[in-house]
Amino acid sequence: MSQIFTPVHIGRYELPNRLVMAPMTRSRANDDDGVPTDIVATYYSQRAGAGLIISEGVYPTATGKGHVRTPGIETDAQVDAWKRVTDAVHARGARIFMQLMHCGRISHPSLLPANAQPVAPSAIKPAGQTWTASGQQEFVTPHELSVAEIADVVAGYRAATRRALEAGFDGVELHAASGYLPEQFLSSGSNKREDQYGGPIENRARFILEVLTAMVKEAGGDRVGIKISPEMNYNDISDVNPQATYWHLVEQLNAFNLAYLHVALFGTPFDYHALLKPRFNGAYLMGGGLDRAKAEAALKKGQADAAVFGSAFLANPDLPARLRNGATLNAPDRETFFSAGEKGYIDYASLDAAEPA
Ligand SMILES: Cc1cc2nc3c(=O)[nH]c(=O)nc-3n(C[C@H](O)[C@H](O)[C@H](O)COP(=O)(O)O)c2cc1C
Repeated sequence: MSQIFTPVHIGRYELPNRLVMAPMTRSRANDDDGVPTDIVATYYSQRAGAGLIISEGVYPTATGKGHVRTPGIETDAQVDAWKRVTDAVHARGARIFMQLMHCGRISHPSLLPANAQPVAPSAIKPAGQTWTASGQQEFVTPHELSVAEIADVVAGYRAATRRALEAGFDGVELHAASGYLPEQFLSSGSNKREDQYGGPIENRARFILEVLTAMVKEAGGDRVGIKISPEMNYNDISDVNPQATYWHLVEQLNAFNLAYLHVALFGTPFDYHALLKPRFNGAYLMGGGLDRAKAEAALKKGQADAAVFGSAFLANPDLPARLRNGATLNAPDRETFFSAGEKGYIDYASLDAAEPA
């Protein structure tokens, strides 16, 4: 019997199935004001067969923007546009959490208010580039946040949580994966601070725990999740002892009674799911390279409570129906992952083209 299509309890919600749509940046917001365009509501509502949708990464404050045409949740105009998204998703019966993504040093002055320097725990320039309005540009040396500035960033996450709930989201996910600001604090390669936010893991985890405290104050633990991606090594992130780092972090998470822990793995030989799932007291969301067989096996063995699908959901608005029927899947078109407009966004075919499932 299929486990995917059985109900599951995540935080305060009972979801009809265990299929979760992964957070995916799609760069379909206006670049000047971070307001999602009208097609965003269509895109998410087409995918409302998921038990839970996690939105693309959304910057909590404009200083956290890191890629061209990504959306925010700070201004009234952004909140109003997101309301149309959550209404459309709720009308089709799914739940949707907003992912809060502060990019930290994975940014460029041309993306930030008044051409500001990107911020980070330490002034270490990452290798690589980001997409800006004028194409790909090299990362720069970031500004090292002062303790007072860290408090402002944390307050920004709290305000963003409040605004996300105001916009009708069912909860919020802290993006602590993929080498963005929370992981920059957590990881020894990007955090060389000598104060209470750097050095031993107890200190490097402090920023994430402070942000979660702020988010939980607004939403309650049962409407907050967190995403991590141990050893993904994306965006020039590295850690001297990732197993010890994530063990410590996950043990600390239990105090918050979070809705879920979302762990995406990308080919690391070490089985972090086996390490972390037994240590966490909420629902465990497994992601990274899943197909139907892998998801079923993990759910059956109790290795996860829900299965997160990214690129397959991007390319198949009716993914749940296709998995249920064993239908073939559309292939994702990488060329349009981050392009503007409808192509490769809301025009992927459903099995029944007249009525996306
Ligand atoms: C186009 C695209 C954009 C993504 N953007 C984000 C993002 O904003 N936040 C995030 O946590 N992960 C992001 N990811 C990673 C996915 O959430 C997911 O972890 C990854 O795609 C692995 O799942 P999959 O193998 O099912 O695609 C993105 C992935 C893709 C393909």
